[in-house]
Amino acid sequence: MQQYEKLLLANKTWAKNKLAEDPGFFERLVHIQRPEFLWIGCSDSRVPPNEITQTHPGEIFIHRNIANLVIHTDMNMLSVLQYAVEVLEVNHIVVCGHYGCGGVKSAMSRHSFGLINKWLRHIKDIYRLHHSALTNIESEEARLNKLIELNIVEQVNNLADTSIVQRAWKKRQAPHLHGWVYDLHNGIINPLVEIPAGSRLEHEIYEYDNLND
Ligand code: CO
Repeated sequence: MQQYEKLLLANKTWAKNKLAEDPGFFERLVHIQRPEFLWIGCSDSRVPPNEITQTHPGEIFIHRNIANLVIHTDMNMLSVLQYAVEVLEVNHIVVCGHYGCGGVKSAMSRHSFGLINKWLRHIKDIYRLHHSALTNIESEEARLNKLIELNIVEQVNNLADTSIVQRAWKKRQAPHLHGWVYDLHNGIINPLVEIPAGSRLEHEIYEYDNLND
């Protein structure tokens, strides 16, 4: 059997087991999608959102990219964000990064990786922003982990800086924003930062004053 055929076979078993324990499982999900959470995570195969949070289909709307970035010109991320916030009306957005992130590690090096340099450049900017705090850390692993944490906090701030989130805060006092970090060594997620709906932004320059619908 080919490797990929195992996936299809496993899927059949999964669907069969789901039906056995709950005959209405799929039929209910066909008609409604009402997730409470938008998850923005790293594409890393070792950080599967549903599995590490013990959530089921229908519970989390998911966007993943390399190093869990929230870039304000990324149409893909913005489309997911707008749909999640304005149509699904999620109440929480989680940016979940992870220690040992290869994307952040690559950005911290001076090696050129081709096209992906353009994506990783955003992380280099964060390194520069926090240069003095980072260079004081002797151990390379500790410095990487600190940059991973700083990156997560930055991405949560980036969410708050969007007109999509600010408009929703004015309209319905949600969503609340969370920055979490997952530890590959023990499978535990630790919360790093939380921005409740309606909070002041990191800087007033990002605050839009004409978002009333
Ligand atoms: Co990663």
